[in-house]
Amino acid sequence: MDNRPIGIFDSGLGGLTALREMERLLPGERLIYFGDTGRVPYGSRTTETILTYARQDTAFLRRFDPKVILIACGTVSATALHHLAEENPLPIRGVVGPAARAAVQATRNHRVGLIGTAATIRSGAYERAISALDPEIQVTAHACPLFVPLVENGRTRPGDVVIEQICKDYLTPVKEAGVDTLILGCTHYPLLREVLGAFLGDRVTLIDVGAACARELARELREKDLLAPVGAKGESRYFVSDEVENFSALASRFLGYRVARRIERVDIDKY
Ligand code: DGL
Repeated sequence: MDNRPIGIFDSGLGGLTALREMERLLPGERLIYFGDTGRVPYGSRTTETILTYARQDTAFLRRFDPKVILIACGTVSATALHHLAEENPLPIRGVVGPAARAAVQATRNHRVGLIGTAATIRSGAYERAISALDPEIQVTAHACPLFVPLVENGRTRPGDVVIEQICKDYLTPVKEAGVDTLILGCTHYPLLREVLGAFLGDRVTLIDVGAACARELARELREKDLLAPVGAKGESRYFVSDEVENFSALASRFLGYRVARRIERVDIDKY
């Protein structure tokens, strides 16, 4: 049993897809979310900058003495997880391993598609994780740098010609490769599920990396007896590095409910 909170961070709002799944699976846990909304997107930056930001995000969350930190960001998981895990005396988990395991389990034709930010695709991290599990699987990867800004601006709905055209441009090579499974390698992308699903057809399984890592973490905490005591009342607190109002308006799209309270602004440069 461990009553300490779980820290979760992302470059912005995308990690809320992991938080939502954690709330659903483990309603007794206290969750502390940090979204670096003042510096999003991370995915177009250098590996060094992403690591600097990720170290600050981790240092901020450590103020709450978390029992584990979940990197709910494909970009940070793909580029900085091993550094953060080495540098910090607490378990740090990311999305790449859980997503790779989910994709390997889902594919029938051994053709897996991968979309993510430029930094994620450049890292090759998902391909390495998949190949370690099953070297026969062919991965077709494509960077989708415009998806995060569009999602953060609420351009996610079917019928929106901008997102539909960009989706077509990015996903055509993946579709042509005949994949039956697509890893949404960035935690923002589940909000594009309908648009992506309509373009690829319903025979392609979409892997939500935030939900996949939340499921594995929930199982790990249960197996290691690290959950909050039975009957504990869970709650989520949110911290952001930019406007609280903007976060609150958009967060409800990721979460399906409003979070007008419990949001605080942080000066992340202090960490
Ligand atoms: N949610 C982040 C990810 O999973 C967004 C990346 C970004 O900030 O560019 O990669």
